[in-house]
Amino acid sequence: LRDGDRSMHAGLGVHRAVGHVDGEIARALEGRDALAQADIDALLLDLDGTPSLERLGANAILATSLAVCRAAAVSQSLPLFSYIAALSGTARPSLPMPMVNILSGGAHARLGMDVQDFLIVPVGATSFDTALRIALDVRRAADAVLAKRGYSTLLADEGGLSPGCDVSTDALDLLIEAIETAGLEPSRDVAIAIDVAATGLFADGIYAWRNERVRRTTGEMIDMVLDWQRRYPVVSVEDALHEDDWAGWRRLVDAAPDLQIVGDDLFATNVERIRRGIATTAANAALIKLNQNGTLSGTLEAIAAARAAGFGTIVSARSGETDDAFIADLAVGTSAGQIKIGSVRASERMAKYNALVRISEASLPFAGVARSR
Ligand code: PGA
Ligand code: ZN
Repeated sequence: LRDGDRSMHAGLGVHRAVGHVDGEIARALEGRDALAQADIDALLLDLDGTPSLERLGANAILATSLAVCRAAAVSQSLPLFSYIAALSGTARPSLPMPMVNILSGGAHARLGMDVQDFLIVPVGATSFDTALRIALDVRRAADAVLAKRGYSTLLADEGGLSPGCDVSTDALDLLIEAIETAGLEPSRDVAIAIDVAATGLFADGIYAWRNERVRRTTGEMIDMVLDWQRRYPVVSVEDALHEDDWAGWRRLVDAAPDLQIVGDDLFATNVERIRRGIATTAANAALIKLNQNGTLSGTLEAIAAARAAGFGTIVSARSGETDDAFIADLAVGTSAGQIKIGSVRASERMAKYNALVRISEASLPFAGVARSR
């Protein structure tokens, strides 16, 4: 919920949402038990009364939901991740494998490349600290490789680089060169994940690759993913097809059974959409974004639904972020297995990585390798 008053912050201010927290929401919560997270979240949804939380604002409701959880954890003298583990019935919290953005295009870099994000997964790491160090090494090497090859090294939205390659395999070649320049071995030490964000390419029944200057059908998109998988150590592909092509997603899962097929726009952290994806085998992993769902309880329900079906779960930040690090505790407390924060640059990203480093001092197990079926 934004203010809409174009004379201030281009209409993107949040004074109305803050007013709702201080007024209507505060009045409804006063005297309630902060330990009753599910009841409070249900009350918040009820109070708003609209399916997409547009009256009080999803921003107002999520901020309240997370503040209640934090207050409850403090009242129990528990670290936030431990309290989330108790809330979600997670017996063994664990540190997630990070999926780290190195090269960006799409909506994250002014459409400079067709694919939104090329990420690395430090599959060879046996601890979170090593995984993070590998990510830092590859990110630094990517800077050097791009500079050497005459590409721009300007930052994209999530702190990745935006080389503006016209062809996706050129970006993958640069990524492989960065991994090797960092003294690491592709596949053994570092695998690749791709977020196509294909909804942004889709219009009038076809995927239009503007920079590559080709148009692809669903079948050709699937063939392209298989080609990436054949030629590069790609272990995970997100939103390879648009968000309502349920039949196409099913074909992709059938065609690439050993690939992690992640639904982000497909599921939008919505429990009904995740259930539909499970029933139709439209994916085998779900991206989990708190602010797509709107409350902590709803998000925990989405994680539980995905988990019960054997789907992978990847807790994720947004391209637009604050320095709040709640998702670090969420990933650990639910033992989500994977986390996607963006690149290892920019303080709103580093806040989460640093939170995970601090949590790692509690000697928790490391969730390890990205799902490979
Ligand atoms: P968004 O990007 O926050 O812009 O949706 C993140 C993603 O696509 O995973
Ligand atoms: Zn995505």
